[in-house]
Amino acid sequence: MVDRPRILVVDDEEVIRDVLADFLSLEEYAVTTAADGESALAELRQSAYDLVLSDLKMPRMGGLELLAALEHERPAPTTVIMTGFGTVETAIEAMKRGAHDYILKPFRVEEVVLTVRRALEKQRLAAENLRLRDSVALYSASERIAGSLSLDAILRTVLESARGSTQADEVQLLLAESARDGAPAEAKALRAAMNPEAVFAHFDAGGEALRLRREEAGRYVQAGGEAPAGMLIVPLRHRGEVVGALGLSRHEGPGRFDEGQRKLVRMLAQRAATAIVNARLFRGQQVAIRETIEGLARAIDKLDPYTAGHSDRVARYAGLLARRMGLDAATVRRVRQSAQMHDIGKIGCHVNLNKPGKLTADEYEDFKKHTVYGRDILEPIGFLEPLTPGVLLHHERMDGRGYPFGIPGAEIPLIARIICIADSYDAMTSDRAYRKALSHEVAVAELKRCAGTQFDAELVPLFLEALERWRAEQGR
Ligand SMILES: [Fe+2]
Repeated sequence: MVDRPRILVVDDEEVIRDVLADFLSLEEYAVTTAADGESALAELRQSAYDLVLSDLKMPRMGGLELLAALEHERPAPTTVIMTGFGTVETAIEAMKRGAHDYILKPFRVEEVVLTVRRALEKQRLAAENLRLRDSVALYSASERIAGSLSLDAILRTVLESARGSTQADEVQLLLAESARDGAPAEAKALRAAMNPEAVFAHFDAGGEALRLRREEAGRYVQAGGEAPAGMLIVPLRHRGEVVGALGLSRHEGPGRFDEGQRKLVRMLAQRAATAIVNARLFRGQQVAIRETIEGLARAIDKLDPYTAGHSDRVARYAGLLARRMGLDAATVRRVRQSAQMHDIGKIGCHVNLNKPGKLTADEYEDFKKHTVYGRDILEPIGFLEPLTPGVLLHHERMDGRGYPFGIPGAEIPLIARIICIADSYDAMTSDRAYRKALSHEVAVAELKRCAGTQFDAELVPLFLEALERWRAEQGR
């Protein structure tokens, strides 16, 4: 969007106002006029201007008083004073009060145009030089954004730093994938919630960041909302794809965002877009891992109708114990996933697992290999490899009489000791080809009896505690 610089011409002589307005309009500036300082101030509070070209001596409020009043405005427009006194002293006084430049009357119109052009150019350059403080704040925000794979954390950081570096009254973020179907719920609390349709139509067509005044902001605000005094909307683009839109609004005063702020927010949006895409990829990867594990667990269950659901139940019991132990979320997830995969190696066994009665000695030897087969199956799959210790060692015993290696308790990884307890409890309480399910009470007694020999004596009481609580919740 071409943003024409806006100029306010302030002079009590109508003819001068008209001449300047005409000439400056020819130079592609958007010009408004005011007859004295007071009406100029009222206009400046209504709407944002890049430059004020003001006479010094006017009724009601003169140029110097106008300058003094403008000192407190944010952002203050660049001011050029026109003085008919022809004395350098008055001009210097005006410069001291914050005027950018002065023009002595009577002036040539070309001279005015040149001064205005110079002033605006200088203003543009000043705004382009990002303020160091904002840049540092933005840099640390970017670091936090880039280091995070949690979408929630990224969005929170983006909103906080956008607000912090621009002093906006409202900041909001629309994500393309959710916003295209309608406005997000939290938008209701905003005075100027963005209209997703209008915003994405603009950005999808290749549109750049929007820096809007009240008159222009209306069409990007949802019906029923209030057009803010100033609005800045930047796209979150990643490799050409519009991932979202970041909107900032100011409700009070002229409210306009300057060029430097637009640049800052664009940089922030750039980083945010990349981080959001990464977080989404990571989430997709987690889903793929979960689905792969579920699919493999189903394959195990197909081998033996008697053990259908066994993998899921062992995963649940192992998860109960892991949480009771206070392990962190990532470890609990690994425990659950390892437990779900613990019998994957049965796919490699030749023995008929459905045969009624006990296995022969040879069949049992073959069956025992499912631990090693499990490791062989998972090891080459990069994202499942972390599950191998639990799968390989879940039949080891604390007294060193387990298989496949017969290693003693201290050498058995915690994850395998957890699965061992969960696996045994479920095996006992489920029907098998060669026997009926044992009762919960019998299974509990068995776990207690074998604590220290087969099972980790410290884990058994924790497991029983977690199990009883879970059973109570389930009404069992
Ligand atoms: Fe097993």
